[in-house]
Amino acid sequence: MDKFVSELERLRQEIRRHDRLYYVDDAPEISDAEFDKLMRRLETMEKERPDLIAPDSPTQRIDWDPANHLETVKHILPLMSLDNSFNEEDLRAFDARVRKQIPNQEIEYVCELKIDGFAVSLIYKNGFLTLGATRGDGQTGEDITANLGTIQSVPPRIDDAPELLEVRGEVYIPTAKLDEVNAQREANDEAPFANPRNAAAGSARLLDPKIAASRPLNIFIYSIGKWSGPRLRTHAEALDELERFGFRLNPHTKLRRSIDEAVEYCHEWEKEHLKLPYETDGVVVKVNSIAQQEELGATAKAPRWAISYKFPSEKAVTKVQEIQIQVGRTGVLTPRAVLEPVEVSGVMVSHATLHNMDEVERLGVRVGDTARIERAGGVIPRVIGVLIDLRPADSKPFEPPTSCPVCGGAAVRLPGEAALRCVNPSCEAQLKRSVEHFAGRPAMNIDTLGPKRIAQLVDAGLVKDVADLYILEPKPLTKLERMGNGTAGNLLHAVQKSKEQDPSRLLHGLGIPFVGLTIAELLLEEFASLQAVAAASMETLEGVHGIGEKVAASVVQYFALPANRERIDRLKEYGLTLEREKEENGGPQPLEGMAFVMTGELPSLTRSEAKTRIEEAGGRVTSSVSKKTAYVVVGANPGSKLARAEALDIPILDEAKLLKLLDA
Ligand code: IVH
Repeated sequence: MDKFVSELERLRQEIRRHDRLYYVDDAPEISDAEFDKLMRRLETMEKERPDLIAPDSPTQRIDWDPANHLETVKHILPLMSLDNSFNEEDLRAFDARVRKQIPNQEIEYVCELKIDGFAVSLIYKNGFLTLGATRGDGQTGEDITANLGTIQSVPPRIDDAPELLEVRGEVYIPTAKLDEVNAQREANDEAPFANPRNAAAGSARLLDPKIAASRPLNIFIYSIGKWSGPRLRTHAEALDELERFGFRLNPHTKLRRSIDEAVEYCHEWEKEHLKLPYETDGVVVKVNSIAQQEELGATAKAPRWAISYKFPSEKAVTKVQEIQIQVGRTGVLTPRAVLEPVEVSGVMVSHATLHNMDEVERLGVRVGDTARIERAGGVIPRVIGVLIDLRPADSKPFEPPTSCPVCGGAAVRLPGEAALRCVNPSCEAQLKRSVEHFAGRPAMNIDTLGPKRIAQLVDAGLVKDVADLYILEPKPLTKLERMGNGTAGNLLHAVQKSKEQDPSRLLHGLGIPFVGLTIAELLLEEFASLQAVAAASMETLEGVHGIGEKVAASVVQYFALPANRERIDRLKEYGLTLEREKEENGGPQPLEGMAFVMTGELPSLTRSEAKTRIEEAGGRVTSSVSKKTAYVVVGANPGSKLARAEALDIPILDEAKLLKLLDA
């Protein structure tokens, strides 16, 4: 074999090994920087020989193109649900039913934590991930392969696999990452997710894999569905097999020899589970022997060989002392209950979110009420109901505010919005949140500038606009509390350093509704400078791939305001980076702006060769056919994309015609 080729393959193997050590085994051997170096080396080699880019190369994890809808897929084996049990008695009754149906046999159980996430099925054909689907109604789900492919612990390829392997697992978001996801949502003016499960489901079903990739999704695989490998004797054996293939399994799964031991496992985890970095809502107890499973069979809905044991949910009752209003960056007013402190699942709770005004109305909660609150895992506690019988005579219904609690400006409900907003553009609370957003990690990343410091700067009148950060002087700073020369120096240095941040971060940092980091990047890729984005018309913006009407309107509206344009001028004057150096690839681009979709095998070009050629000519290759598709390139054994192209009247090309177009 060519030395280059063998080096390339060796490098890929090495990267896959480190990927697994990091994401699956949680035991990295090299630093992130060393890993990045390996990846960069591979990218350079692949750039040199694009013909050698294999679809399973670690550089090709994701099909980055957004889809316009998710395809429905039929499961090869239904994904069943589970019967529930709520106490020890229920568990023992389950064991009694099992032993009655298969008398005089020893029954072993595998006990697994029931991850509170989002069930998926992954299909590998000849070792390649070919389909990732949601559970849906159990019979049919949705094709979310592109999004699942962005999860680092989902191997795109497995070694020594049978022809067909279907695995099932639970996609989740670690509890602590919910805030991160919600910050991203709020930056885009989207409602926050109420819990990690919704966040996982929402993220796994996104249409744009680029955004899915930015969400901290992870997965635990818990069983084999259909497979063409040798017959397995036990569920434990299946788990071993899955581990060998490199899937990520939950480390707390245990084999238990009797129902007594299984009951013990359930009790053990009742409190322990709260310490886990992800949410679980119970234990799944499964009969270990596959022969016994088969003998027990299933009802229409659930197998008779497994049961879920639900953890008692952690609830408490306490008094609502006050209902406060918090002011967000865009002026949204959010109510939250101040509670008489109470312990819920080992943590003292003194606040609970009430989400929005409609929720307050739905719950009918009043100051002075005794409320039931719930805390799932590590998530912010929420009010789930009110004990009306305990309502004191002097309780008053909550009146939605007519003014902002911070600036006194008018609070209005804009047409079509659920939220109340403070519409005073110079509201100090909004200013503080805006500066927090601007300095935040996804934006300008000024790490010495946290909420407390920002509050100080705003309260002292030193910062009235984010642009003021760049004209801060050391002297007035040192007059602030707990701000010595050293701290002030560090702060100024960090602010100065942020001037070099990529303009996409700056654009995101401005806090334009719906302009998250991904959208900001798309805009800068297209327009190369912030001023060009500011000058773009609605039509031009909408013409950019990935930008819809809502985003375009929001951008136009933002830059229509003189104060916002002035801010850009000032930022430029202070030396921030507003422009990106545009890559010149010279020559006319015959396929500029055209979207191509490929289906079937081409006679001479490989898929990645065709893709590279199209991209070199200025075109894009996307994964699904829509009205925006310019051409569908069709080879032998085309898939459903051909039918869709015909239905939408999209021109069809064979390889010869494609080559002609490329040479034009
Ligand atoms: S076994 C036929 N194992 O719980 C067996 N399910 O109500 C069914 N889940 O939708 C699934 N952790 O998403 C199994 N270790 C685990 C699980 C688990 C979470 C979810 C699964 C399913 C639901 C069943």
